[in-house]
Amino acid sequence: MGDNKFVKKILCIGAGYVGGPTMTVIANFCPDYHVTVVDISQEKIDRWNSNDLPIYEPGLKERLLKVRGHNLFFSTDIDKGIAEADIIFVSVNTPTKTFGEGAGRAVDLQYIEKTARRIKAHARSDKIVVEKSTIPVRAAETIDKILHSGNNSVKFEILSNPEFMAEGTGIKDMETPDRVLIGSMETPSGIKAREELVKLYEHWVPRENIVTSNLWSSELSKLVSNAFLAQRISSINSIASLCEETGADVHQVARAVGKDSRIGPKFLKAGVGFGGSCFRKDILNMIYLCEHYGLQPVADFWQQVVDLNDYQMRRFVQRILRAMFNSVVDKKIALFGFAFKPDTGDTRDAPAIYISKMLLNERAQLWITDPHALENAKADLEGVDGQVTYEPDPYKAAEGAHTIALITEWEEYRNLDYERIFKSMEKPAFLFDGRNHLDHEALFQIGFNVYPVGKPARTHV
Ligand code: UDX
Ligand code: ADP
Repeated sequence: MGDNKFVKKILCIGAGYVGGPTMTVIANFCPDYHVTVVDISQEKIDRWNSNDLPIYEPGLKERLLKVRGHNLFFSTDIDKGIAEADIIFVSVNTPTKTFGEGAGRAVDLQYIEKTARRIKAHARSDKIVVEKSTIPVRAAETIDKILHSGNNSVKFEILSNPEFMAEGTGIKDMETPDRVLIGSMETPSGIKAREELVKLYEHWVPRENIVTSNLWSSELSKLVSNAFLAQRISSINSIASLCEETGADVHQVARAVGKDSRIGPKFLKAGVGFGGSCFRKDILNMIYLCEHYGLQPVADFWQQVVDLNDYQMRRFVQRILRAMFNSVVDKKIALFGFAFKPDTGDTRDAPAIYISKMLLNERAQLWITDPHALENAKADLEGVDGQVTYEPDPYKAAEGAHTIALITEWEEYRNLDYERIFKSMEKPAFLFDGRNHLDHEALFQIGFNVYPVGKPARTHV
């Protein structure tokens, strides 16, 4: 079979949480497109080419196996990929800067810049370059400047096509998206490039759900979407603290409030705080942008969303301490769940990291259990994990523990035998349900002292 059966060649630079699943879905819906995913990490590419994929995402593997080797390929030959591609998606990592100007807030653009320089060095024909990674507003301008610098007859069109998938439901989010957003320069060649990408998505997304805009609106919309979602979580978490003091139940409040169709019911679940690679990063990035343009009150407004999230994690630990007679020194604490949300092994910015560190500071003995995230947990706590045991079996993690702290609402934690767990624990046995995931009344009847989030505690002591 020759390559000429394909109408277009797509390259994706960066085989991470975004690149791998996105290209798998595109390859499934577009058998007429040849899709290659490249990465600098040989190990990652080897795993994408094996049965042991580098990320866990429900539905990913089945879809990948249908197309891998047919129209989806994984490789480390970045330069060949660039030379052959018509459309290049850029999904390299864009972490928050840890050094220099803007450290802790601005985005570290070095990977994007390196990628742009490489594209320029190896492109021999005109290309469409699509920003898929979340990057700061006007980053397209930087990419454009690099690509068009010096003497080069090759023309590039830059598009912004932000990813709205959430981990754990990434495949579904991409297969039936609320919307696909494509931003371009509003020049004739920009609009023509945009239409190329519309054509690709039209393989499975209804045209009315494909939203087009100028480049800057598209880049900003991604940040704003994440900021609004995170803001809802901080809003409900702020109310959770008020509920705990007043005897109100945050679940009942969220249900009553969410019934208003102008507010809506989603993203109103109180918990230990939001995590993940996007929310904190994107808000900090927006704050940095506001400060850059002298919009301090706007920056302060969004900073509160992050501060409240930190407060929520701290408050969770303080509640544990207070309930457990103000000391957890040498007490065994079983942490149920480490991933930043269920159905993913991802632990980037997971509340579990902060909570673990706070508990370790209090000299607790942590037993961490999680069905998919223990490998990442080990890496996250490297250097501070003298008092940590990583245990895949939740029963063993809870044996002899003074308390269970549920941090991630994995479905299987609902189905454990809590009578058995209770019997094996130290007494009084405590359970802090950081996600309001379990049946609190049943646990109380078994004998646990139960502390939900945003609801009164049920205690025997
Ligand atoms: C998010 C956005 O949802 C997605 O559109 C964007 O592309 C990437 O960032 P993700 O971080 O993968 O996706 O997961 P999400 O489901 O949004 O959850 C983020 C965090 O918020 C998790 O830690 C989750 O536990 C928490 N959360 C979510 C709550 O605490 N309460 C809620 O009601 C919803
Ligand atoms: P995301 O959640 O945005 O997908 P990841 O960290 O999971 O972030 O993935 C980004 C990927 O990009 C990593 O696998 C990393 O090795 C890769 N990467 C970073 N810089 C480059 C580069 N210059 N060329 C190719 N791949 C890169």
